[in-house]
Amino acid sequence: MSNFIHDIRQEYTDIFCDIEDDILKDLYRETHLTQLHPRMISGPTQAAFISMLVKISNAKNVLEIGTYSGYTSICIARSLPENGKLISIEINDEIEWLIRKYFKRAGLENKINLLIGHALEILPKLDKVFDLVFIDADKREYKKYYELVLPKTKPGGLILVDNVLWDNKIFSHVESNDYMTKGVIEFNDFVRNDSRVEKVILDIRDGLMILRKK
Ligand SMILES: C[S@@+](CC[C@H](N)C(=O)[O-])C[C@H]1O[C@@H](n2cnc3c(N)ncnc32)[C@H](O)[C@@H]1O
Repeated sequence: MSNFIHDIRQEYTDIFCDIEDDILKDLYRETHLTQLHPRMISGPTQAAFISMLVKISNAKNVLEIGTYSGYTSICIARSLPENGKLISIEINDEIEWLIRKYFKRAGLENKINLLIGHALEILPKLDKVFDLVFIDADKREYKKYYELVLPKTKPGGLILVDNVLWDNKIFSHVESNDYMTKGVIEFNDFVRNDSRVEKVILDIRDGLMILRKK
């Protein structure tokens, strides 16, 4: 598919979603004005899809690995029931001010527990069972996140994994120092043969994998 067609399709699906209020629009804009790599935001279509999965699955306890500026976190938290909680982990303390600014503006400070630190250090310490997990951090560590969160996911629970098609780089020759692409391939190959989960990859945005723990 040409980039042009891909872009107009993305634009159309984004405007079709009605989740973006002024708070999310401002967050999207401020992320682009103040942060490096604003492309990392999931965007309206994917965030709306994840929010819908949170609702359909009646998830109460959700974990996000990789907050970035908190766009998807806000969408997830808004979809949770009153007693629901989101734990979101972000390694970059330089973006904490932006995340907290918008969690506060959205009135979600009590619903989202933002943990600043390295996911691989924080995850083993989390004594909780999750209904839904969203993995969206360092591609080199995807398999490690997965192994750490699978035992903490309830049977029937969902694990969503972003960027599993990784800009199509997984389909061509991989340079020996391209550790991100190698990480995505290693994870995809591992999960493909993992009988503990049911799996599907959706070709939306950069590829979203949905896993259901048996
Ligand atoms: C693609 S962005 C997340 C986007 C966000 N989930 C959204 O949908 O808008 C990836 C984030 O993961 C963070 N990250 C990378 N490695 C991490 C780690 N080991 N632990 C926690 N966060 C990490 C990065 O700093 C970055 O903000």
